[in-house]
Amino acid sequence: MLNIKIILGSTRPGRFSEQVAPWLARVCSEAQLDDTAVEVLDLRDYPMPFFDQSVLPSHVVDGAYGNEVVRAWAAKIREADAFIIVAPEYDHGYPAVLKNALDSVYAEWNKKPVSFVSYGGVGGARSVEQLRLVSIELQMVPIRAGVNIPNPWLLCDEKGVLKDGALDQYTKVAEGMLTQLLWWGQMLKAAREV
Ligand SMILES: Cc1cc2nc3c(=O)[nH]c(=O)nc-3n(C[C@H](O)[C@H](O)[C@H](O)COP(=O)(O)O)c2cc1C
Repeated sequence: MLNIKIILGSTRPGRFSEQVAPWLARVCSEAQLDDTAVEVLDLRDYPMPFFDQSVLPSHVVDGAYGNEVVRAWAAKIREADAFIIVAPEYDHGYPAVLKNALDSVYAEWNKKPVSFVSYGGVGGARSVEQLRLVSIELQMVPIRAGVNIPNPWLLCDEKGVLKDGALDQYTKVAEGMLTQLLWWGQMLKAAREV
């Protein structure tokens, strides 16, 4: 069983990530992947403090983090074999809430692949390029394929609601990303088990 976690990278009211995640989960389920479980993780459900521990996450053993919410977050990340991060662009970078979630645990990310579905004026590309560097430090494997959605606000109506089928144009690209993610997910899972 390969366990894929989709992580919503923003928490603000009216966030676009919330509209991307169901589409992405649908792409995964319509791909009818054998032996694969997909779960959406919402950072709103894990209100971690801004990192405030004296012990470095990379020094923590067996998920014994000093904060209860972080321990719950770590347990979810430990279950995963691969990640898809829904990544907005904030000020040419990534949202602080996402970076904090990445910083807060360590071993649970290690030796697992990650891909990004991003959005923003230039498709969130600047956020993703930074996230790739961060993920390498966490001993993750950022894969090449990803989905970049330019000007997401143009896909929404005046109330900010995604227009019907507006993300369908990205389905093929997302399927390609999934193929690469699964390959790396299976390879690294096998390698971790050796
Ligand atoms: C604090 C902040 C900074 C932003 N900076 C950028 C930016 O540098 N480049 C960009 O393309 N979009 C930027 N945006 C627009 C976001 O890409 C857009 O609002 C997107 O929907 C934010 O993701 P979210 O809705 O999931 O929070 C910014 C939005 C916020 C809230």
